[in-house]
Amino acid sequence: MSAERGIGDQADTLRQMARNAKHSSQTSDNSGQLATQHSIRVISVTSGKGGVGKSNIVANLAMALASQGKKILIIDADLGVGNLDVLLGLSPQFNLNHVLSGEKGLAEIIVEVAPSIKLIPAGSGIQEYTSLGQHEKLKLLDELDMLEEDFDIMIIDTEAGISENVTYFTVAAQEILVVVTPEPTSITDVYALIKLLATRYSEHHFKVLINMARDSEDALEVFRKLANVAGRFLDISLDYLGCVVRDERLIDAVKKQKAVYELFPDSDVSNCFTTLAKRIIENSRQTHLKGNIQFFFRRYLESSSGSGA
Ligand SMILES: Nc1ncnc2c1ncn2[C@@H]1O[C@H](COP(=O)(O)OP(=O)(O)O)[C@@H](O)[C@H]1O
Ligand SMILES: [Mg+2]
Repeated sequence: MSAERGIGDQADTLRQMARNAKHSSQTSDNSGQLATQHSIRVISVTSGKGGVGKSNIVANLAMALASQGKKILIIDADLGVGNLDVLLGLSPQFNLNHVLSGEKGLAEIIVEVAPSIKLIPAGSGIQEYTSLGQHEKLKLLDELDMLEEDFDIMIIDTEAGISENVTYFTVAAQEILVVVTPEPTSITDVYALIKLLATRYSEHHFKVLINMARDSEDALEVFRKLANVAGRFLDISLDYLGCVVRDERLIDAVKKQKAVYELFPDSDVSNCFTTLAKRIIENSRQTHLKGNIQFFFRRYLESSSGSGA
């Protein structure tokens, strides 16, 4: 059979391992009672094409979730044009490249965005690291293990489109959030992405967020269009997560290198993020468990060590 099938099988096996690890991760606390180990939610934010607002959504959603008491780890996994640091007015000295090359530990490259939000800045050219040694992989996994305790939700800002990098990050996450705008090209491009993830990687559940909508009616109309085509041709389920309105204040905030949620907390666009954050927190109980943070990074490491093949 094809290599594609092989990846699918491997993913299934890893998922099962992750699930087993979760189920066996019960420990006794001091009172002798069974306590379930803390587990992190991993959400990947992706889109069919660039410029639809992914990075802004990741940044502002992180803030909205944090203001509801969640501890957030953002990974800027846009290996092409990772720019969350710029968007947030940060200038980190180190990034993922330094970790993968062995110069830095993961904990050393994390920067603070706000008290409850940390960021792992992107590195470019990660694809060049064709072979990470077993030792480095284990070290990274150990470091991630320590991080997992510190966060409730990890949000990954991925590259747009259907490159290998995107699919690896996305398939590794527990939840896939696709961002779509009312533009026809955005809808056709996201359809192509969903189709690829469904047919090649057996991903069947997607949360959809409509950005730059005029209002909620407009957003629902876009969602219906996407659901119509996708539902007709693909065996998938699309959950409408909600919308973010088009707002000039977001553009102002980008220019000032601040999150709009912070700069204009009472604006319509910030209210959208508050609503989305609440919905994401409410959703947690229904979340289909696919893996944990280690699982995510296993996939990530496989992608960076296997890309030479
Ligand atoms: N809700 C919005 N309202 C107005 N402009 C937006 C909105 N979302 C995104 N934009 C515009 O789109 C640009 C690209 O957003 P960005 O988050 O960098 O996209 P991506 O990460 O998908 O490439 C922003 O700089 C901003 O000008
Ligand atoms: Mg971006």
